[in-house]
Amino acid sequence: MSFLLAGPGAHERRIRSALPSDQYQVALCPTTSSEVMEGIANHDPLVVILGPDLDKETAFGIADTIDLRHPEVVVVLMAQPTDEIFSRAARSGIREVIAGDSNEELLRTSAAAALEAARRRRNKFVSAVPNATGRVLAVLAPKGGVGKTTVSTNLAVGLAQQDGERTVIVDCDLLFGDVSTALLLNPEQTWYDIAQSLAVPNSTTVKAFLTSHSSGLYALCAPESPLKTEGISPRHLEDTIGLLAQEFANVVVDTAAGLDINTIAAIKHATDIALVCGSERAGAESLRRYISALDELGITEARRFFVLNRADAKVGITNGEIAEIVGMEPSVLLPSDRVVPLAMNQGLPIQTLAPRSGIAKAFRQLAEVVFDEPTDRYARYIS
Ligand SMILES: Nc1ncnc2c1ncn2[C@@H]1O[C@H](COP(=O)(O)OP(=O)(O)OP(=O)(O)O)[C@@H](O)[C@H]1O
Ligand SMILES: [Mg+2]
Repeated sequence: MSFLLAGPGAHERRIRSALPSDQYQVALCPTTSSEVMEGIANHDPLVVILGPDLDKETAFGIADTIDLRHPEVVVVLMAQPTDEIFSRAARSGIREVIAGDSNEELLRTSAAAALEAARRRRNKFVSAVPNATGRVLAVLAPKGGVGKTTVSTNLAVGLAQQDGERTVIVDCDLLFGDVSTALLLNPEQTWYDIAQSLAVPNSTTVKAFLTSHSSGLYALCAPESPLKTEGISPRHLEDTIGLLAQEFANVVVDTAAGLDINTIAAIKHATDIALVCGSERAGAESLRRYISALDELGITEARRFFVLNRADAKVGITNGEIAEIVGMEPSVLLPSDRVVPLAMNQGLPIQTLAPRSGIAKAFRQLAEVVFDEPTDRYARYIS
């Protein structure tokens, strides 16, 4: 759909005759912000025209919402152009203001320019990897605090640095996810906004919910408050991750400890699973049971990697014993290093803070093992 015309219908005939139906599709929708959002969801217009009979405050409110939720949609306001209207329009992301009584010729020219701008904007929002079915790596653990976020964020930044803007990290630890803290991100949009959005995200709109990191990485962050998770359903997680996998070459999914319905939904599209545990017997035994649960749930197709964290801790159990309990050889051994909390506290990836450290090298190895190599690579410990 090319245009959505919002507002009371007095000017409809004039606009329709300026934009003939053999060239342009024009849908109509009434006046409130939520009706316009619904109209966008139903018609997927390139341009929204805010008609001249709309109350101005309502018109700017609608423009603000479109700017926030659908930045790919171009907005044109029909109103008597005054300095005040122009500056308010600019703040609301309105591309053009045309007088309500403009003649058909002017209407047509403005509409064509807006349509052209919208097409350019859409191309920009469409990913560099159209229709690619990306690799989805979910980072899982039965226990909290074992290093899932450390692994997911550092792996994702490493991939983004090497692979340009083709990697996204998705924080599925909805209640207390800290990907944004670990990467010093200040997200304007999170899972909360996806759940609030009337329209299910599509390949064009999903990028509006992402936050970009200086490394080129994109992130879909958890809500800033645990009270803002209401309405985020397993379906949102599954569908959005599936969509991101079409748009990005690499999708890294951080999760909450355990295996609740959200985590199960988050791994529906996983091509790879990294299972994390530390050098502790209890953690290793939980991981073994966790792996059995994955088997019982039929989650068996994704390649599995075992990441043994704090592998050099001398705590009365060898890495061999841990591997035996878990029933898997580690794909990588991550050493204990104070650079890990240091990096997290500063919101910097380890690769940036200490690229020559043993743990940075271990992360590069992990990326290589997960993303470049077949599964039967064995652990190499570098410190
Ligand atoms: N190899 C390591 N060396 C030193 N500290 C580490 C290492 N791995 C993780 N940590 C520290 O352990 C803490 C927990 O790590 P992280 O947040 O990555 O775990 P998590 O599994 O994501 O936890 P949660 O389940 O709470 O989300 C952090 O303070 C982190 O800095
Ligand atoms: Mg975490």
